[in-house]
Amino acid sequence: MVPKIHSLGGYIHEYQKSVTNPEAFWAEVAEGFYWHKRCDTVLEWDFKGPSIKWFAGGKLNITENIFERNLYTIGNQPALIWEPNNPNEKTRLLTYFELYKEVNKFANTLKQLNVKKGDRVAIYMPMIPELTIAMLACARIGAVHSVVFAGFSANSLSDRIIDADAKIVLTADGGFRGDKITPLKNIVDEALETCPDVEKVIVYQRTNSKINMVEGRDIWWHKAIEGMLEECPAEEMDAEDNLFILYTSGSTGKPKGIVHTTAGYMVYTAYTFLNVFQYNAGDVYFCTADIGWVTGHSYIVYGPLLNGAQTLMFEGIPTWPDAGRFWDVVDKHKVNQFYTAPTAIRSLIALGMEHITNKDLSSLKVLGTVGEPINEEAWHWYHDHIGRNRCPIVDTWWQTETGGVMISPIPGIIPTKPSFATLPLPGIQPVIVNGDNKELTGNSVKGNLCIKFPWPGMARTIWGDHERFRKTYFSTFKNLYFTGDGAQRDEDGYYRILGRVDDVINVSGHRLGTAEIENAINSHPLVNESAVVGYPHSIKGQGIYAFVVCGELSTGGEEGIRKSIKMAVTNMIGPFARPDLIQLVPGLPKTRSGKIMRRILRKVAEGDASNLGDITTLLDEEVVDKIIDGALVPVKR
Ligand code: PRX
Repeated sequence: MVPKIHSLGGYIHEYQKSVTNPEAFWAEVAEGFYWHKRCDTVLEWDFKGPSIKWFAGGKLNITENIFERNLYTIGNQPALIWEPNNPNEKTRLLTYFELYKEVNKFANTLKQLNVKKGDRVAIYMPMIPELTIAMLACARIGAVHSVVFAGFSANSLSDRIIDADAKIVLTADGGFRGDKITPLKNIVDEALETCPDVEKVIVYQRTNSKINMVEGRDIWWHKAIEGMLEECPAEEMDAEDNLFILYTSGSTGKPKGIVHTTAGYMVYTAYTFLNVFQYNAGDVYFCTADIGWVTGHSYIVYGPLLNGAQTLMFEGIPTWPDAGRFWDVVDKHKVNQFYTAPTAIRSLIALGMEHITNKDLSSLKVLGTVGEPINEEAWHWYHDHIGRNRCPIVDTWWQTETGGVMISPIPGIIPTKPSFATLPLPGIQPVIVNGDNKELTGNSVKGNLCIKFPWPGMARTIWGDHERFRKTYFSTFKNLYFTGDGAQRDEDGYYRILGRVDDVINVSGHRLGTAEIENAINSHPLVNESAVVGYPHSIKGQGIYAFVVCGELSTGGEEGIRKSIKMAVTNMIGPFARPDLIQLVPGLPKTRSGKIMRRILRKVAEGDASNLGDITTLLDEEVVDKIIDGALVPVKR
């Protein structure tokens, strides 16, 4: 089993061990898993290449570590508790044994469709058990899953299918979200117009929407699994064989396919899940994320299931049928650990106390947050009204690239402080570095957050572009992994994450590249150019502020063009990337060499232009005044 920390002394002891002898520390954690063959070396690494190998030479299958390792003891216990969008529909419950059989059946289905080890499978599905089944079925046969969040547009889906070169797509006729249905299959059809290499589409019937099935290409899920055996031998994988690709946004327009491999990711998600949530056998754990993002991969699917936990998967949204939905789910299933994003908390604060006061919530033991900084007000509200002053909050900092939680309190063990992610987990060696590549030692410092030693869950490459991987993460600071975040270490040595220092923004916990949004805006025929920045937003954390230069206005005038720009972004990326504010400007502040001075736009969007710094290199200083005059937020000059 995975080692669990029980006390502050235990944490200090484990942390010290993990730093003085990381190999021995992780070898001990890895002991608890089921290997066909143990590794030859625990760690081989070089941050220059970079090349990172954990447990090299080891042979295993991650699904055997979920199922075979646990079936004997917990086969009849619930693995997946599924709560539907509509509270009147029945909950589905799959025990470990039932889930195992479903995974095997679907693994055999994929095999029959000629999916082989190493092949990529694109998954564009709603939050239903079959999504988890699909991922694990891929892992069972060694296929690499690439889950695409079901809020992405056809255009984004197609980009990801092409980049990963997936020949098969798994989807559903539609997905329920509150009182709406997302037409997933129609979106897949549109996406596949530009993906000639996709041979098969498997469609799960969820909404009974009227859809078009393409002959020879599309197969109903229920038909495809008919007659499949409930047993499927697990493919033997090398420790460093790819487990999945998950796309995330970066500073440039093109999303990056982050690659995670088998053994390191397994060991890391299992270890962090158990410790960060202090999960005990029999607890019910509920993470509200969508599996389309890394939080869902690591902490709905892999981390909990590797620990034999009961993981709750919720199909719906927090505000439907009313803003008490999360709390009803907590009470109905007696949830013990609850994990969500600050943006959800803030939106529920805004909807009033009446949705909370009549709820029990006494089953809760640990509350978690992830995805963006949590402001103190939201932290206290969560602590007082949801945790009823009894439950520690784990503010967990991590990234798609890190695979699992990196900095977080251990609940009940490490004293918390509002808006601080507190201390690194064992095995994690964070450093704060200034702009001159100098590590800032000691406490009470602020700078760029880097990690100086590898950990098993870290990404190994960007799919098809290792050089971009090197450049993005390992070239800014010498011999360090650069997170892209700014951080402060306070007088107690506690870390507080200050937000991104690059051109990535966190909107409602969704990570977006400003360049990606600009590309989408620029696709509008009347737009000449644009610049997008984040600005403080009371619910979303950051809102999207777009400064747009248009050639001429269409007949709809300014309002019309704003609407059609939003539509262009929805079509190119998805509705969650729509700008909140669109200011039409006569020009953008550019240097003589043509570079947009985003610093100025950020200040305007933040509402404080009193200190713009040096603007003498600007080609046209007047444009700044015009932008401030027309700003859509009050700006201090
Ligand atoms: O800026 C940090 C923010 O989310 C970014 C990673 O986004 P993504 O890869 O989508 O993964 C989100 C879920 C792990 C980070 O670079 N972030 C994540 N957690 C926190 C956070 N910012 C502040 N506090 C956190 N707890």
